[in-house]
Amino acid sequence: MKLSPQQLRQVAEWFSEAGVFDVIAEQNVAPQSPKGISTLAELKTAVAKVNISLKECALHMVFGVGNENARILFLGEAPGAEEDKQGIPFVGQSGQLLDKMLNAVGLDRTTVYITNILPWRPPGNRTPTTEEMTLFRPYVLKHINLINPKMVVCLGGTASKTLLQTNESLSQLRGRSFRIGEISAEIFATFHPAYLLRSPSQKREAWIDFLRIKSLL
Ligand code: URA
Repeated sequence: MKLSPQQLRQVAEWFSEAGVFDVIAEQNVAPQSPKGISTLAELKTAVAKVNISLKECALHMVFGVGNENARILFLGEAPGAEEDKQGIPFVGQSGQLLDKMLNAVGLDRTTVYITNILPWRPPGNRTPTTEEMTLFRPYVLKHINLINPKMVVCLGGTASKTLLQTNESLSQLRGRSFRIGEISAEIFATFHPAYLLRSPSQKREAWIDFLRIKSLL
């Protein structure tokens, strides 16, 4: 059945009066601004309360792991299936590669901190939506400020673009360093380990990024 424009308007008005649009909008709204939060525990509680449909499909919230006094923080995109099962960032295949890359430059999970833009796995590992990334950005900034690292390394284009609020591609962002007003750390962008698993020929380039990052630490 095809509705005429007038009928569509009537349906929309009926939905609006019934509060349907308010309910949909509220579904993806962060209830508490993270601004006043001063500890990681408080932030974790606030993130857990974010009202978003993503978490209905997820098993666990994935917050962060590593050294809370780290000088370097790695920022991924979103948990995958294994991270969702264990509630820990980067424990699947990508995580194993990340661990190897860290070890290669003398780092490990006791010296770095690791988190993601999204704390819940998107269904079927789909790419996070712009709305989801925008919703969680203030929480990510607070997370970074509570750890207070000297450096943030964004893993992959999605994390880089969200943190830096840019449309530049990863290849344009790699090899440079950035500052944004909201955090004091210097920001770098490199490949996501999942991409390196698919394109092993790029591991050499990632190695160059990691050596540079280590030399600046
Ligand atoms: N990919 C990510 O971006 N983050 C994880 O935690 C795992 C895979």
